Amino acid sequence: NPRRPLAGRHAIVTSGPTQEPIDPVRYIANRSSGRQGHAIAAALAGLGARVTLVSGPVAQPDPPHVEVVRVETADAMLDAVRRALPADIAVFAAAVADWRVEQASVHKLKKTPGAAPPALVLAPNPDILATIAAGTPRPRLVVGFAAETDDVEANAAAKRVRKGADWIVANDVSPATGIMGGAENAVSIVSADGIEEWPRLPKDEVARRLARRIAAALA
Ligand code: C5P
Repeated sequence: NPRRPLAGRHAIVTSGPTQEPIDPVRYIANRSSGRQGHAIAAALAGLGARVTLVSGPVAQPDPPHVEVVRVETADAMLDAVRRALPADIAVFAAAVADWRVEQASVHKLKKTPGAAPPALVLAPNPDILATIAAGTPRPRLVVGFAAETDDVEANAAAKRVRKGADWIVANDVSPATGIMGGAENAVSIVSADGIEEWPRLPKDEVARRLARRIAAALA
């Protein structure tokens, strides 16, 4: 069926931020609405793929016809992605926290008058994209994101090679662009063949174009 070119394919998509606990009531997180990742999951499902969406805490509704696995931490996100394998396609759109608190407290940290504020000791989180791109079974097409404020395309090209991704969707998240949390995105697709610049488009349209490009690559 030409309208469902991804029928029979399984896609895993990560979306949203991760939350890394400091104590039972506090956490470290990145800014991420989940808008672009959720739109990609919906677009892949729209082309007939079976989609597993592994999402951090977001206010987005679950996309239709998508299996949603909700997680909080990067460790839990990596676990959920591994459990969802094998897949033909993996799109890593989540804004994963680079660090977690090494020893999250099981008790709420107290403000003690006159005492120094607590110091947080951080430990690195796993890189989910790099781990899955180097692991087995490797999805045939691994797509990462690069949200940069400077030298967007050069940084994205270096990231593609460093992380073992097939494609990197690069975008400029400088505050002046209004892209963070906004409804539009201006991306470039960085692959082994070079760089393709797309015009500024609604995030839903970026998602549909990306899904069509993925279907063409797997055809
Ligand atoms: O290194 P940076 O965070 O800029 O890389 C962004 C890309 O890597 C995104 O695709 C993001 O989802 C993925 N990533 C990941 N796990 C991490 C950090 C980033 O999957 N711990």
